[in-house]
Amino acid sequence: MNEQMQAETRVGIEALGLYVPRYYVSLNELAAVRGVDPNKFAVGIGQELMAVPAPDEDVVTLGANAALEALEQVDRSQIDTLIFATESGVDQSKAAAIYTHHLLDLPRRCKSFEVKQACCGSTAALQMALAMVAQKPTRKVLIIAADVARYGLGTAGEPTQGAGALAMVVSSQPRIMAFDSEWGSYTEDVMDFWRPNYLDEAVVDGKYSIKVYLKALAESWAQYAEESGFDHADHSRFCYHLPFTRMAEKAHRQLAKLNGLEVSDDTQIEEGLRYNRIIGNSYTASLYIGLTSLLEGTTEDLTGHRVGMFSYGSGCMAAYFSGVVLPGYRTHLRPNRRVEQFETRVPLTVEAYEAFYQHELPRDGSRYLTPQHETGHFRLSGVQDHKRLYERASRSAKAAPAHAAQDVALAG
Ligand code: CAA
Repeated sequence: MNEQMQAETRVGIEALGLYVPRYYVSLNELAAVRGVDPNKFAVGIGQELMAVPAPDEDVVTLGANAALEALEQVDRSQIDTLIFATESGVDQSKAAAIYTHHLLDLPRRCKSFEVKQACCGSTAALQMALAMVAQKPTRKVLIIAADVARYGLGTAGEPTQGAGALAMVVSSQPRIMAFDSEWGSYTEDVMDFWRPNYLDEAVVDGKYSIKVYLKALAESWAQYAEESGFDHADHSRFCYHLPFTRMAEKAHRQLAKLNGLEVSDDTQIEEGLRYNRIIGNSYTASLYIGLTSLLEGTTEDLTGHRVGMFSYGSGCMAAYFSGVVLPGYRTHLRPNRRVEQFETRVPLTVEAYEAFYQHELPRDGSRYLTPQHETGHFRLSGVQDHKRLYERASRSAKAAPAHAAQDVALAG
């Protein structure tokens, strides 16, 4: 196969889009209210700010907003399949993908469904998309990964919450990254983190989850390295699933050790941690938000560099894989938009964050209009007869932080 043909059959990321809720809470303030040393969150966990979704946002609106950006440079009539990965879905039966398909006005012949395996669902979606495109190279697959991470007020997991969405178009005309074909995987039935259907918050055995994460990394890396023939030095940067940024440091150190290196080079991961440090955990989206952070934030031209990626989904399934950054990738990314997205977010007091957290939709299906807060282009306007109602948001809605808690209290 000549070089041109090889380039034509590569499958990878053609376009990316990222969305974060318009509100956040500072972990320094949370630490003060919870009576915890702020360095525990800033250094021990490695988190600074935590994105908080407003009552009129959910995974559907988060995901649709991310997808709008990903579709800016893609003809949406060419989207053949929409795969929505989430572990905080809004319905036990109907896929978040269907609501999103409607909001994005995608073609009726575009297949749309949801996949789940904790934070690794997005990577399962990616594997599926790569196979679909390899089978028929004219296909374009839109993957949306969106999640709201919830553990419970005052719990050890609380500072590792967050929310966000990442959308990517996978096709045979990749402009940002082409994926290598060898993957390592690992599955083991463990109870490190799960969420029974009757709970809104995850149940977690935190310390155990860290151990299983690191074991799954070792196992999936071993298979990936064996099958691909790549070693540590073949990768210039590394991205990890990011429940909190300190986890990546632990993981990167372990990977170095496994490969006989005495010290790990944290510069290989640091640009990939920046966005997650001010967003928090976004479960399915977090690895790919980390990749976006790396590509948008690294001043060095990464063209031709191989990035190692580790995806971990509690329960557990994990995957190790890699991709090569493509020439011209920078022209398809939007670091300036990220600056705007992050700098215009609204800070919440801890009290207002708690009110957002405690907001609930009626469980009897009765008519309810969600109070209007700052959102992206889409919002959950309410429910009626057990049906979720979505609408295009008026961008003029501004809820001042001091009013946020009160709005919710009044509406509830
Ligand atoms: N200054 C600096 N560091 C401090 C400190 C201080 N004042 N006080 C504590 N620390 C350090 C601790 O030494 C510790 O560091 P090490 O991990 O290096 O030992 C770190 O801060 C955390 O403190 P604790 O060990 O006391 O842990 P905790 O009880 O607060 O719980 C946690 C931490 C387990 C991560 C908890 O937040 C949690 O359960 N989070 C949710 C689960 C999770 O994220 N698991 C990750 C793997 S599973 C996964 O990845 C899937 C997923 O998305 C959930």
